[in-house]
Amino acid sequence: MISQESISQIQSRIDIIDIIGNFVKLKKRGANYLGNCPFHHEKTPSFTVSPTKEIYKCFGCGKSGNTIGFVMDHEKYSYVEALRWLAAKYNIELEETATSPEFKAKQLESESLFIVNQFAGKFFSEKLFQTEEGEDIALSYLKQRGFREDIIRKFELGYNPSAPDELAKTADKLQYSKEILLKSGLLVERNNGLSDNYRGRIIFPIHNQSGKILGFGARIIKSNDRAPKYINTPENEIYNKSKILYGAFFARTAIDKADECLLVEGYTDVVSLHQAGIENVVASGGTSLTTDQVRLIKKYTNNLTIIYDGDNAGIKAALRGLELALDEGLNVKLLLIPDKEDPDSYVNKIGASAFLEFIAKEKKDFILFQLELTLKEIGNDSAKKAGLVNQMAATLSRINKAEDFTKRQDYIKKVAELLKIDEAGFNALVNKIVGEKIQKDDFRSNRQSSMDGEVVGEQEESFEQEMLLHKDEPQEQAMARSLIEFGHLEWEDGQKVADYIFKQIDEGELLDLIDNPIIVKLINLYRNLYEEGNEPDAKTFLYMEDAELSQLMLKIMNDDLEISPNWKKYYEGHIPTREELFKQEVDSTLLYLQLRKIKRLIAENQKDMENTSDLQEQMLLIQTHHHLKTVEMELTKKLGTVILK
Ligand code: CTP
Ligand code: MN
Repeated sequence: MISQESISQIQSRIDIIDIIGNFVKLKKRGANYLGNCPFHHEKTPSFTVSPTKEIYKCFGCGKSGNTIGFVMDHEKYSYVEALRWLAAKYNIELEETATSPEFKAKQLESESLFIVNQFAGKFFSEKLFQTEEGEDIALSYLKQRGFREDIIRKFELGYNPSAPDELAKTADKLQYSKEILLKSGLLVERNNGLSDNYRGRIIFPIHNQSGKILGFGARIIKSNDRAPKYINTPENEIYNKSKILYGAFFARTAIDKADECLLVEGYTDVVSLHQAGIENVVASGGTSLTTDQVRLIKKYTNNLTIIYDGDNAGIKAALRGLELALDEGLNVKLLLIPDKEDPDSYVNKIGASAFLEFIAKEKKDFILFQLELTLKEIGNDSAKKAGLVNQMAATLSRINKAEDFTKRQDYIKKVAELLKIDEAGFNALVNKIVGEKIQKDDFRSNRQSSMDGEVVGEQEESFEQEMLLHKDEPQEQAMARSLIEFGHLEWEDGQKVADYIFKQIDEGELLDLIDNPIIVKLINLYRNLYEEGNEPDAKTFLYMEDAELSQLMLKIMNDDLEISPNWKKYYEGHIPTREELFKQEVDSTLLYLQLRKIKRLIAENQKDMENTSDLQEQMLLIQTHHHLKTVEMELTKKLGTVILK
């Protein structure tokens, strides 16, 4: 847990223009800033940032949020990751509450590993470009393979000299810790001394999502039977092979744009495709895809295209990836590279534009590909065909997210056609497997996935109810807004607006009249903070981890942002600001709630009148009705004057 003090410290330092300006080119327009929305494609800017409110909104796609939310969305970070990112940016030391000494030690170790890797990365790059050995042996090799210098620099490729301990000596001079150097895998212990682990190899640094170096892949230059082609960083605090996708840092924006991620096997494939202008590409690093890697991809896009060698090993590896990807709800396409080539050699052979055409033309739906491939294999063997039917049903049962229901039905239709079997029977088989899985895993209630009409109907009904319940929401929000915005101003005689509001709320039991429980939560939280002597404001709530609260706060603040740009066009001279009119605003929101209370009482009273046949009681109820009506009229009149004044 990050301490509240640290979070406040970050909040106070946040400059939304500076942060968003890292990712979007912003131009000042009046009080706000304007740019092209990073979340959807647009030519005329409709992405608005308000520095005073510390929120952004895109009038094109509707996306909006605060600074932390922006960092979360844009960088695909969790709340805590976003806080860490911001803290690093502003050099704020994060205070972690309730962290064990073990956790602290681990964190320290991670930091040290990053530092050592950064040093080594720079060292390798200098050796590649600025030494004779590097240029003659490594740079010339890379250039001969067709890599351009700008791409080599972009991926920060490097060279570890062939002498036994050049890196070791430099690291020693700079007094890096021996323990960390060994953990990082950069050095190994030999004959009581330290020597370089990647001697005479080309270095591929592996970056995390924010561009820091997690580890390295080191490729031999002249192939050699006794030495492995690649030596990779050993598993350590920051390098977990199963969670890494090589190239993700460089591919992110392109994946967003294309809404598709290409997956290849090797480092050189990623670099070559980039050079050809195909940038939405990452590598799994030679081993078969892991669940963690698939989840990483899923953060960026739902569309995965696996590009593997067309040989049997490539297809097998791809098939394993397919199952995992289906489990995570991805749409999976497959592209097989022909003639014993890999993407790197093939793009070099046929050129960038032919390769793009090749992708567009040869990309196949993976499930149907799997089917066609096996159908070809088994020919007319009916026993094997029965096996295939079961296999396909098992594959399709993996598409079991509720929102993918139509997709699965489409597949069932197509597969039944290709297999020449009865669609309804096949459908039943798939459903049976899905049902068994649900029972077994018990991760999903039967209601949700059994997509029948009854459930949908129920959902619709509750939606209607919700709409009805929240039809007064704007007024409730206005009440919370005036409290948050004006609470600390003086009402009269040293009494603050907040005191006044809380007195009114208590006297009229007004809180019970607010239908939206989140607004009630917000008001109560404000009251607690206020009574403890704090001065909460919009930002206090905007940055809360409680997503309900920060979303609500955002909505409240956003309302205003949407109206204000047009305001000024229609008025000449001085427009009274809300600050100048705050007393009226506070009174009108309170009056509105009182009016609501009266209206509800009137409705209840009316029901009672309908339900009673007792004459005396009826008389009483009629009297009550008249009284309530008078109060209603008074309130309406007051409300009118408040609003019109
Ligand atoms: N790999 C590895 N260790 C090996 C061989 C391969 O870690 N001994 C991983 C590397 O991540 C490599 C990927 O598997 O990038 C694919 O292997 P391969 O196709 O042999 O390497 P390429 O990257 O294509 O290298 P090159 O083009 O130079 O042959
Ligand atoms: Mn290769």
